[in-house]
Amino acid sequence: MDHKDVQLRKYLYDEGIDPDLRRLIHAISVASKYISGKINEANRKLAGTRNASNEEQLELDKLSDLILSDTVGELDYIGEYASEERDETLVLNNPHPKYSVTIDPLDGSSLVDVNLSIGTIVGIHYGKTVLKHGRNLAAAFYILYGPLTTLVYTSGQGVCEFVLNPEGEFVLAQKNITIKEKGKIYSPGGLKKSWTDEHKEFIERLENEDYKLRYSGGLVPDVNQILMKKGGIFSYPALKDAPEGKLRLLFELQPLAFILEQAGGMATNGRIDILDIPVNSLHQRSPIYIGSKYEVNLFKEYLK
Ligand code: F6P
Repeated sequence: MDHKDVQLRKYLYDEGIDPDLRRLIHAISVASKYISGKINEANRKLAGTRNASNEEQLELDKLSDLILSDTVGELDYIGEYASEERDETLVLNNPHPKYSVTIDPLDGSSLVDVNLSIGTIVGIHYGKTVLKHGRNLAAAFYILYGPLTTLVYTSGQGVCEFVLNPEGEFVLAQKNITIKEKGKIYSPGGLKKSWTDEHKEFIERLENEDYKLRYSGGLVPDVNQILMKKGGIFSYPALKDAPEGKLRLLFELQPLAFILEQAGGMATNGRIDILDIPVNSLHQRSPIYIGSKYEVNLFKEYLK
């Protein structure tokens, strides 16, 4: 594989993206091809360690983190590399940091053994630190490892999708992806018995409006489904025993919120847009309601 990725690079060039940001995005996209290969190698082995969120790590989680940290670390204009698999950020000590990167190297990796789709989520912030609200993002994308490996990207000029072809090139599949005001599917996370009353009522309302249930347990494929089916809602709510929910603001929610907003959707914790939530800590969590405007605004009504 010589990783020309002509279409991906041309797309970024045509968007007028800064050459350093282009190099960074392309470098991570190339790294994701190796990760895709590793996933195919029946990697079900546990690493015997736990990550910052006390989740069991697969060897594959650690390997993906290593591939990505090495890739990002080679660029001399990156401030911090922050990974969901690490307790602390990796400060790269470059003299003129332009961008900092958040990565969830292999989100949903507990689904590897059952052969469901998983993903890598990337957020690229301006400046020397990642501890910034989501409006500071220069670009965000995810790579979805499914029957097809796809890369869905935004830098604030709309959303596009690239597909990894059999020759190992990311080729443009769709641009200007948008979702409708109202969708037909819902994807509800969290144990039902731990849901709050307002969340329970909201979900019942969706069911009464004939929304179809679509929940795989993988954030990337579940949100991707809403994007590709052009509407609907994914939620991971505040729980009675976990008021901040489960999902991580920097590694998971900010990048996906940026993409969905760019596609004409919304993402909120119920009170404030995900991209506006002040950041206090690296592994901060937040509830999330993300998808079409009708459904997200409907939940806000229940919270009142
Ligand atoms: O954060 C990891 C993750 O696996 C997400 O990909 C997914 O949306 C969520 O957790 C699933 O959580 P649960 O197992 O509680 O449904």
